[in-house]
Amino acid sequence: MFKKEVYIDRRNRLKKELGSGIALFMGNEEAAFNYPANTYHFRQDSHFLYFFGLNHPGFAGVIDVDNDTDYIFGNDFDIEDIIWMGVQPSLADMAAEVGISKTAPRNDLATFLKNAMSKGQKIHFLPTYRGTTVIQMAELLGKSISEVKNGASVELIKAVIKLKEIKDDAEIAEIEKAVDIAYLMHTTSMKMAMPGVKEQEIAGTIEGISMALGGPVSFPIILSMDGQTLHNHYHGNILEKGRMMVTDAGAETQLCYSSDITRTVPVGGKFNSRQKDIYETVLSAIVNSTAATKPGVEYREVHMLAAKHIVDGLKGVGLMKGNMDDAVAAGAHTLFFPHGLGHMMGMDVHDMEGLGENHVGYDEKTKRAEQFGTAYLRLGKVLKPGFVITNEPGCYFIPTLIDKFRSEGKFMDFINYDKVETYKDFGGIRIEDDILVTETGCRVLGKPIPKTVADVERTMAEPREFIKLEGYL
Ligand code: GLY
Ligand code: MN
Ligand code: MN
Repeated sequence: MFKKEVYIDRRNRLKKELGSGIALFMGNEEAAFNYPANTYHFRQDSHFLYFFGLNHPGFAGVIDVDNDTDYIFGNDFDIEDIIWMGVQPSLADMAAEVGISKTAPRNDLATFLKNAMSKGQKIHFLPTYRGTTVIQMAELLGKSISEVKNGASVELIKAVIKLKEIKDDAEIAEIEKAVDIAYLMHTTSMKMAMPGVKEQEIAGTIEGISMALGGPVSFPIILSMDGQTLHNHYHGNILEKGRMMVTDAGAETQLCYSSDITRTVPVGGKFNSRQKDIYETVLSAIVNSTAATKPGVEYREVHMLAAKHIVDGLKGVGLMKGNMDDAVAAGAHTLFFPHGLGHMMGMDVHDMEGLGENHVGYDEKTKRAEQFGTAYLRLGKVLKPGFVITNEPGCYFIPTLIDKFRSEGKFMDFINYDKVETYKDFGGIRIEDDILVTETGCRVLGKPIPKTVADVERTMAEPREFIKLEGYL
């Protein structure tokens, strides 16, 4: 974990933002996989981790703003726990490591909150995403399930976002570690992408790299020749020459910071000319949108710039026609690029998305658009130094969407449907980097992962590296 001053400072800044009341942060419990004692890998709640740092199940953190006091509620380990898990530090010792001197048994939390409420203190809590937490909170606060589900504090949500959206140097260093792990995951995936290999072999191998060098993957790996399915978790295809393979994968570090990188490569290691045309189009979108990523710029404009590069490239190969500014204004690009350019990234790979996309990605000035595709933008608001975001343009040939738009007569002035029909077997291409917004522009984080046609082809021709822990752990 970070130094205790980091957590003390975060809690103090939250108190200032919130002004009054009590902020309750429920840490996660173990979650059962297929029977109660067989649990998933434990993942702490990211907000609890941010303010309280302790990566153990069963804790709750309280920030009493009115009385300027912080608490951890949890239980010390008993002899049973020690037999199965080994000697553990005491709750008091763990709390001290994050600058907290007040601890109490977990069972005391209900009484503590009841007393606070009886004194008129408001209990602020964040939206929940696990059923067991909702039930616990309903019991703790004497509320119904729907009151808990709908009762999150907008003041607390806004305060947490204000703090967490600006990453400090130590957090950026963690994210760069996660990107460096992704470097090895992605270069390994490239070198394995040969005809006859099953997608699952590659997905399993690179998931192992994440586990060996940091922690679990930061989200289930997307790896497929069918890259037109944006979140494709099916890894059952045998790779074939002439197809492209998308790998969208990232790692978590031991402190639970993430990376989220996508590369798309030609199976066998050489682009054919049709693949190169579309690849260069997406490459131009990421290179130019990244050059335009800077503080003060509304991210939706950067998205639109990426869309413009996509349509210009598609016009160049005859898939689109007409005036490309008008095409983007009409939304014709959404046939090929139906998602947002990027999103916030941090401890959650879509950072803080559970607090509500409209709170995280939009603000008073930038409201969500209504147009198909553009409405899906997770992030639209003005960029600030310290944001870590992804830029991830793509170009996809989604047969069902092509049929739908064509049958509805959509964008007939801009799309050469007859030519598009011949790309229905193409799949999709996405290229994604993780980016820090700096005072003057931006910086692509981590060791550069091959991205140009020449670099991808060169990497795919190289032998696979063995994992070296040096420099990672
Ligand atoms: N990994 C999902 C995404 O790129 O947002
Ligand atoms: Mn991704
Ligand atoms: Mn992403």
